Amino acid sequence: MDAGEAALIAASGLWLALPAMLPNSAAVLFGRGAPVDLGRSWRGRRLLGDGKTWWGFFGGAASGIALGVLMLLLANAAGWSDNGGFGPTGQALGVITLLAVGSLLGDMLGSFIKRRLDVPRGAKLPVIDQYDFLIGAFILVGIAYPSWLYQSYLEGWSLLALLTLLVATPLLHRAMNIIGYRMGKKEVPW
Ligand code: CTP
Ligand code: MG
Repeated sequence: MDAGEAALIAASGLWLALPAMLPNSAAVLFGRGAPVDLGRSWRGRRLLGDGKTWWGFFGGAASGIALGVLMLLLANAAGWSDNGGFGPTGQALGVITLLAVGSLLGDMLGSFIKRRLDVPRGAKLPVIDQYDFLIGAFILVGIAYPSWLYQSYLEGWSLLALLTLLVATPLLHRAMNIIGYRMGKKEVPW
């Protein structure tokens, strides 16, 4: 393992997770209209809250899948092997779809947990806010494509890919939220 190989593994950790990272930012742009929980409450608190909308969910998922398809085209145009690390095309499309959908389901699970803890919509809950989407994405991909997840993020030196992703995620999350706030799309800069 030399420095160049290590850098490549670290970069692949971010690259492969992009279809899971875009949907949450895209959901901010698409979000409007009916909330996913349709306003319903459970035990006196909203199920998910007004911050999770159907438009955000489908717009976010479509954005993540579209980005993933562009990444496959780019990887092949650039001559990278293995569809840029996503594997054979059928699997690659499956992984991309599950990363995108899983990230938004994880984000909703995070909101569900926040409401149960009586944390209002938009208020901070450290760790859950930063990592809920990644947990959802990895759970869904891990169910359908466990060996892809294992080889990409867990086996041997690929742990470096996971570490890079875990360090970069809160920084990117913060940066995107500040951008969303400045654009007037988010009420708070976190
Ligand atoms: N959003 C959406 N639909 C989703 C996810 C996000 O419409 N499925 C939009 C909402 O406008 C939301 C914004 O993106 O306010 C930012 O998302 P997030 O920070 O996850 O939601 P919060 O408003 O902070 O709500 P919560 O406390 O439930 O996380
Ligand atoms: Mg939030």
